Amino acid sequence: MAFRSIVRGCGAYLPARIVSNDELARRIETSDEWIVQRTGICQRHVAAEGEYTSDLATKAAERALAVAGMAGSDLDLIVLATATPDHTFPATATKVQARLGMRRGAAFDVQAVCTGFIYALSVADNAIRAGQAKRALVIGAETFSRILDWNDRGTCVLFGDGAGALVLEAAPDEGSAASRGILSTHLHSDGNGYELLYVDGGPSTTQRAGFLRMEGREIFRHAVKRLAEVVDEALSANRLGADAVDWLVPHQANRRIIEAMGKRLGLPPEKVVVTIDRHANTSAASVPLALAEASADGRIKPGQLLLLEAMGGGLTWGAALVRW
Ligand code: UT7
Repeated sequence: MAFRSIVRGCGAYLPARIVSNDELARRIETSDEWIVQRTGICQRHVAAEGEYTSDLATKAAERALAVAGMAGSDLDLIVLATATPDHTFPATATKVQARLGMRRGAAFDVQAVCTGFIYALSVADNAIRAGQAKRALVIGAETFSRILDWNDRGTCVLFGDGAGALVLEAAPDEGSAASRGILSTHLHSDGNGYELLYVDGGPSTTQRAGFLRMEGREIFRHAVKRLAEVVDEALSANRLGADAVDWLVPHQANRRIIEAMGKRLGLPPEKVVVTIDRHANTSAASVPLALAEASADGRIKPGQLLLLEAMGGGLTWGAALVRW
């Protein structure tokens, strides 16, 4: 029998502490006006001392499981997307696995920076389609505040901490785009862009975690081009037009990129989920955070068609079409 992945639940967690643009402007040479105008960001959440990626991930996972009406012991797969793991190894996913009381199956991390959630969703969906897993938890969780150079105004104002999670369950696949489930996922990378967005440390190079470095303008240019390509690829793979999309749920890196994508697809702003103003760029967590917010407040309804997209370091980019 052919299987597909149905979304059973979604949850998110944001650290309590909120840092406003004005607070940053008191520490570095920047202003609320510059940040809002160039990025759409008004504030970001920052993890407390001693609060780690695994803590955010576990809380988001518990909320997603509660919505799904499942326990950790029901799961047989956890795929956690993060570029800010607790430790170099083991995978942060294994810590979450233990905390959720899951004693079987497999748990591992996936690393595709801001595209991480789309990659993790694709890996979990493929495992379900192959009959390797029945119930999977897909998490995006980050503590980018720990890898920011707080003296570099070109990057430190852009990112925030948070986590989001989805519970997937195998169901018979009738091959119809009209029935619920993940319709398709589309992944890409181009390592020629490695140095455009990277962290200047790591276990094999400097033996320190390092700080995030980014050629913002170059990344912006690539993002607009690659995201446009991959959303077209996702729609045409399913023989769907942009008019079939109920919600664009984009990675939240820059409001101008989000608006450009919405315009290109001919979607009115009311059909685009935007959280960047309050969350900033939470890397792999941004898409599941947006999903959790818009499903919890009733905007996203069962049966609606969602187009997810993201772009990040690697360079990596990807998209997914999901019938919620
Ligand atoms: O999530 C992964 C993918 N990441 C992205 O998609 C990020 C893509 N890039 C961007 O979002 C934008 O390029 C940024 C928001 C990072 C920067 O916006 P920009 O419009 O490309 O500005 P810029 O880097 O070209 O800088 C313009 C000016 C510069 O001054 P000069 O050289 O023109 O005098 C910067 O020094 O703005 C200055 N600047 C700042 N000024 C005040 C840079 N950062 C700041 C700041 N506050 N925080």
